[in-house]
Amino acid sequence: MKIIEGKYNGFCFGVQSAVDAVEKALNDYGVVYTLGPIIHNKAAVKALLDKGAVIVDSVDEIPTGSAVVIRSHGAPPEIYQKCIEKDVKIIDATCPFVARTQRIVEKRFNDGYDIVIAGEAAHPEVIGIAGVCNGKAHIVSDELQALLLPNFEKAFLVSQTTLIPSVFSEISDVLKSKCKELIIENTICSSTRERQEEAEELSKACNTMIVIGGRNSSNTAKLYEICKANCKNTYFIESAKDVIVENIALNDIIGIVAGASTPQWLIREVIASMYQNEQELKSSNEDCAMDGVVAQSEEQPTETDLKPEDQQEVVSEAVQDTEKQQKETKELTPEEKFKRDLEKTMVRIRPGQIRKGTVVQIVGDDVYVNIGYKADGVIPQSELSLEEKASAAELFKVGDEITVEVLKVNDGDGNVLLSRKRVEQKNREKQMVAELEDGRHFEVHVKKAVKGGLLSEYHSARVFIPASHVSDKYVENLEEFVGKKLAVKVIEMDKSRKRIVASHRAVLKDQEIAAIKQKYQSFTPGQKVKGIIRRITDFGAFTDIGGVDGLIHVTDLSWSRVKHPSDVVKVGDEVEVEILSVNPETERIGLGYKQLQPKPWDTAQEKYLPGDIVEGRVDRIAPFGAFVELEPGLYGLVHISQVATRRIEKVEDELRVGDIITVKILEVNPESKRISLSRRAALQSNKPEIVPEKEPVVSIPPIKEAKVSLKEIFSELDLK
Ligand code: F3S
Repeated sequence: MKIIEGKYNGFCFGVQSAVDAVEKALNDYGVVYTLGPIIHNKAAVKALLDKGAVIVDSVDEIPTGSAVVIRSHGAPPEIYQKCIEKDVKIIDATCPFVARTQRIVEKRFNDGYDIVIAGEAAHPEVIGIAGVCNGKAHIVSDELQALLLPNFEKAFLVSQTTLIPSVFSEISDVLKSKCKELIIENTICSSTRERQEEAEELSKACNTMIVIGGRNSSNTAKLYEICKANCKNTYFIESAKDVIVENIALNDIIGIVAGASTPQWLIREVIASMYQNEQELKSSNEDCAMDGVVAQSEEQPTETDLKPEDQQEVVSEAVQDTEKQQKETKELTPEEKFKRDLEKTMVRIRPGQIRKGTVVQIVGDDVYVNIGYKADGVIPQSELSLEEKASAAELFKVGDEITVEVLKVNDGDGNVLLSRKRVEQKNREKQMVAELEDGRHFEVHVKKAVKGGLLSEYHSARVFIPASHVSDKYVENLEEFVGKKLAVKVIEMDKSRKRIVASHRAVLKDQEIAAIKQKYQSFTPGQKVKGIIRRITDFGAFTDIGGVDGLIHVTDLSWSRVKHPSDVVKVGDEVEVEILSVNPETERIGLGYKQLQPKPWDTAQEKYLPGDIVEGRVDRIAPFGAFVELEPGLYGLVHISQVATRRIEKVEDELRVGDIITVKILEVNPESKRISLSRRAALQSNKPEIVPEKEPVVSIPPIKEAKVSLKEIFSELDLK
């Protein structure tokens, strides 16, 4: 075991001064009062209490004429005022760094700046600083809270002395976008910064970190946070008795850092206790070796985990070990060699480790698992599964391969305490995060409305719903959402800090899209629906068929030729249409209007009989004749020989497009959709005295004379 002690460990200048002030006051007055514990360390505070210090929560509790020490965090002006009014002697141990922050904040506040303090609102130091501007400061502890601040004309930003620099820099960045004028004063104490930098460095180089300090100490908590991010085997302890022997291995490189309010004597006590534990561990391992059960770590620090100088050290230690082993091998008996070789195969475990194992026994609701360690592990009923009601026998059988988490190396009865439930929980969380990242909707219970949005929680993650994402409409009063459940979707997630920015508006949008998709899917080709013409273009009419628009293409508006869709329908018309095609992906629906109108050919044979004289409009002229529209969508051909009672060279000699002419029906053929017409016959029947010039009247259209095939002729017709 190698212990590396942080060189900045122990009381900072400010804390040392405050402790000295209390001790001096105790000498001078015998009894001294402190407003709250003088430092955040139970052991150090107890030592002062034993000497006669008294902790009070307010000035009212201090007897008139007594002495009070204002701790290094400082205090708001009203505390000083109360002490003066009550004739309480003030021994001001406010750290000079904190006092300076109070002074500059007061000045800027008087100059009309909005004050923003980056720190924890409940921390006494922050309360003291806020006090100098009549409590009107804006206090934010992180980037998210900074985002919720209003915009400022001019603002002044300071920091709690123990804030993590990266957090301060994130808050500063947010404020830069919110202020016309921003003055940033980084008031993070250099002592704190050095300590945090050292913790960062050490935790990267060591495979175990011990952070010593009071749990209520903000700066110690931050050291722990930093170390834990780099070294998963980081332990927060308040005293020597909190050191867990099983958590430390003989070959660990252990870093020790301590908060600014941790006394040196406590650090020494912890280190001494660790050395003592090491001795005990060594002798216990020797005992194990004698039992023939030895272990080898799965999680030894690799060389790449260590700093170059440490690597060097490890390498030389390894060389020495090898030499020692070679020397020893010569001296060992076969039995000793066997024990030593066995030792190399021994598995070493630590709390939090995930291991694979085999179920070896089920006793009642306890499941025994061989994880390759010297002792079997036991999963108690409470740690079996997330399915609480399932029994051990229902969940597992002997021989099952399972994955477990080590909870304790020794549960007190010599067993390794394992959990299957935690593995399930972690897997579930992993899956949940993946699903959320994928855009899954989830429900939150809105807890609070703040200026910029709503706050809530989801499985221990903090959820913020920006005001603009609360609804798809403008929300006047965010308070109306408090206490309600809201379906949301992740728009941003910080997994490491368990923070989610979510949107209800995005859920509404998704629902709208899903409803539209469903609507598209509900339509099938051939279906008849009612619609309203919404928009007309050159190529068709867009028609609302109940929330979605379909297009009636110009060719599907009428059986007859249509120049422009507006010739058939106009905006606002209610129409009945047939669904021709649906594509939910491209959100396109093809509609047919003419399909629900009678087809002209269906009744042509009954309406038009050979010999009938009818009127029609010349629609088109071809070299071999003229196409005449008898009714919308129904055309007949007047062959050139049947255009006039005289011989003509060109159809245009007699007819023009658009002329309304009288024709005689010669033949109606519904199968081939052809109608033969004769204008000449019609003219003759009106004026029987008209005698043809040379040729006799023909009753069958002499199409052959035109020297074109019927196919060619009728391909000119747009008949459907
Ligand atoms: Fe003062 Fe810095 Fe300590 S502000 S109290 S010297 S951490």
